[in-house]
Amino acid sequence: MRQGPAAAQHTQRPPSAAPADFARDRDWSRAELDRLWARGREFLGVEHAIMGGAMTWVSERRLVAAISDAGGFGVIASGSMSPDLLDAEITATAALTRRPFGVNLITMHPQLLELIDVCAAHRIGHVVLAGGLPGAAAIQRIRAGGGRAVCFAPALVIARKLVRMSVDAIVIEGSEAGGHIGPVSTAVLAQEVLPHVTEVPVFVAGGIGRGEAILSYLEMGAAGVQLGTRFVCAYESVAHPRFKQAFIRASARDAVPSVQLDARFPVIPVRGLANPATERFRAVQREVIDRFNRGELSQKEAQLEIEHFWAGALRRAVIEGDIEGGSLMAGQSVGLVSREQSTAEIIAELLDQALSAIAGREGRRRGAAAVLSASPGRLDAAG
Ligand SMILES: Cc1cc2nc3c(=O)[nH]c(=O)nc-3n(C[C@H](O)[C@H](O)[C@H](O)COP(=O)(O)O)c2cc1C
Repeated sequence: MRQGPAAAQHTQRPPSAAPADFARDRDWSRAELDRLWARGREFLGVEHAIMGGAMTWVSERRLVAAISDAGGFGVIASGSMSPDLLDAEITATAALTRRPFGVNLITMHPQLLELIDVCAAHRIGHVVLAGGLPGAAAIQRIRAGGGRAVCFAPALVIARKLVRMSVDAIVIEGSEAGGHIGPVSTAVLAQEVLPHVTEVPVFVAGGIGRGEAILSYLEMGAAGVQLGTRFVCAYESVAHPRFKQAFIRASARDAVPSVQLDARFPVIPVRGLANPATERFRAVQREVIDRFNRGELSQKEAQLEIEHFWAGALRRAVIEGDIEGGSLMAGQSVGLVSREQSTAEIIAELLDQALSAIAGREGRRRGAAAVLSASPGRLDAAG
């Protein structure tokens, strides 16, 4: 077990516990946690089965390397990168960490197969396909190149379909997450998918901000977890200080899905912090729909105008710090982000919370067992 100084700093010892007992309990709890996420650790080749959810503009070399160095699994967000840019980003990330990391590719990228080849050339072990159901060709190309294909399943039927398509692991991401979201909450998706999909490891994402939540999904059968929002305010994240401040100030209820005004003009739901841009998006939709109703725009033109609204908006917010006019993608767990911290500290804190929860439960179990063995007649009397 590797525990850095940051982990020790977070460790809370119950006042009554003697140091030797405490150390023994901690080792026991860690062994239990390792048992619970063994499949995820083995699959990713890491110490802690915590994936850093790829976040466009945020998940670049520094944050990715920091998450992997802290024992998690960093994932580069390739967004709209060209194959050359991705090649350079992977090279730069590999120069910062010797630990494994993955790459997230967007399925509708016009050069998807070339991007997969770039990953194969770098021997990237895990490629995450996001942004829609991937085609069989992409999955096969990843596997033929020696990588493992990880895909998102927004429902049990899709998880089953992906298993039939030979994916190596699945991420289920609930609507609490930041960025593009589906309609179903993490808690419900987990109940729908985890008991039934055992062929491949399943990672749970969306709304996870503390170690107790990690533990509960592992106990439900998850192989590991994926967190995005919690890492945005890491020191190693390149997000603009104003973007980070917006996260630190926000509470869970500020992270809301984008609003669609008219079923004829679908808006892909994106969860982010409400700001003047989200208000303007409503106004723009209203105006475009009026122009369509007056016959001034075709349906296609109107749809394009609506979709164009957010073009470049995430970059403006994350990189330039335009928190009024940009897109502040964030999950509901933003309410649990209270300060800037090192990535190692964030991961140590999550671990500590999970370990304390295990130790607390074991303590209660031992207490109950002691009471029962001290007065064996109690149960008979009660019965
Ligand atoms: C700012 C931001 C950008 C994101 N960009 C991407 C992306 O490019 N690709 C992707 O698959 N997921 C993206 N996500 C989702 C994350 O990878 C991750 O699954 C999600 O944040 C997990 O939920 P959480 O935010 O509640 O931790 C993004 C999330 C945020 C907050």
